Amino acid sequence: MYNVAVCGASGYTGSELLRLLTNHPFVKVTAVTSEKSAGGYITDMFPFLCHYEGLKYEPLVKEDLHKKADIFFMALPHGASQEAVAYFHKKGKKVLDLSADYRLKNPDVYEKWYGVKHNYVDYLKDAVYGLPELYRKDIALTDLVAVPGCYPTASLLGLYPALYYNLIEKDNIIIDAKSGTSGAGRKADYALSFSETFGSFRAYSVASHRHTPEIEQILSFISSSDIKVSFTPHLLPVSRGILCTIYATLKEKKSVAELVDTYIVAYGNEPFVRVLKKGRLPDIKRVGLTNYCDIALSVDERTNRLIIITAIDNLMKGASGQAVQNMNIMLSLDETTALKSVPIFP
Ligand SMILES: NC(=O)c1ccc[n+]([C@@H]2O[C@H](COP(=O)([O-])OP(=O)(O)OC[C@H]3O[C@@H](n4cnc5c(N)ncnc54)[C@H](OP(=O)(O)O)[C@@H]3O)[C@@H](O)[C@H]2O)c1
Repeated sequence: MYNVAVCGASGYTGSELLRLLTNHPFVKVTAVTSEKSAGGYITDMFPFLCHYEGLKYEPLVKEDLHKKADIFFMALPHGASQEAVAYFHKKGKKVLDLSADYRLKNPDVYEKWYGVKHNYVDYLKDAVYGLPELYRKDIALTDLVAVPGCYPTASLLGLYPALYYNLIEKDNIIIDAKSGTSGAGRKADYALSFSETFGSFRAYSVASHRHTPEIEQILSFISSSDIKVSFTPHLLPVSRGILCTIYATLKEKKSVAELVDTYIVAYGNEPFVRVLKKGRLPDIKRVGLTNYCDIALSVDERTNRLIIITAIDNLMKGASGQAVQNMNIMLSLDETTALKSVPIFP
């Protein structure tokens, strides 16, 4: 049995981790942190997490916490994670950081997009980008995983086979993405309040969203060339779910059937990627509360464009589900432990 700490366990991804770990046979949650609710019980904030009756939030005092667990999930805002991640990593713990602090390999790019200096540059090289479909072997060998962002997960899983098999032009990829409001976290923000979002649908962070360099970094690794994308996120008036519609120009004419076959080969027996048959389309409701990424392919023959549509649950495959998947790989457990779920509808 492994002891686990969840730092930032009063937030959306932290509480989603707690929900998932109630089903995990090989881990025990021994510490949870919140600054604002320190001293309070998890069950007072989240009565549905009755599995953790008696467990109290504590402040993130890393010198105390490191004694309490073998594995640390860091579900904190970017910037707040940096120092504690480095500390626990140095103590020999397994660390899974859900923030963006260890995702970008170039600290200058991190500082430019996040407005925060990276003070632990030496640890960046140790961090493995936790997208199992691309980096499973590296994840199995590391003690420090940078869990991918939600939009990057949906974008990269959609684009990886097309780029890997050199099927598309690299210079005009467009990612049109939509997310539910939980993607912005649990903190109060008037723009995310019910009255502002219900019945509304709008773009935000146009040509400036912080997930852009993360997507570009991995696409550039896949294709061994410098890739830039146009990425536009939108806010959906729903709680959870991401749908990405991705456009790219095909290098040669391909039928949808050929493309679907290529994607099926690329994803082989991946437990959490479902390549849909021709004519079927992803829907955030069909992946809700699951760790699946659904992918559909279409071809616009008039424009010779490949249109890739992906759907994930941002708190599952986009964050906490993927974090647990990574932990299972790090511990050499069945990757699907605590993640097997049936899709729900409605
Ligand atoms: N939401 C998503 O869909 C999603 C997907 C992928 C990745 N992520 C990333 O995952 C991380 C967590 O996101 P979230 O949506 O769970 O955020 P959230 O709901 O706002 O929760 C943030 C958590 O961090 C704690 N916290 C805030 N500032 C802190 C500080 N300075 N020191 C220590 N603890 C602090 C909060 O505790 P108190 O406020 O109770 O003190 C809370 O528990 C972020 O980096 C986010 O970008 C989120």
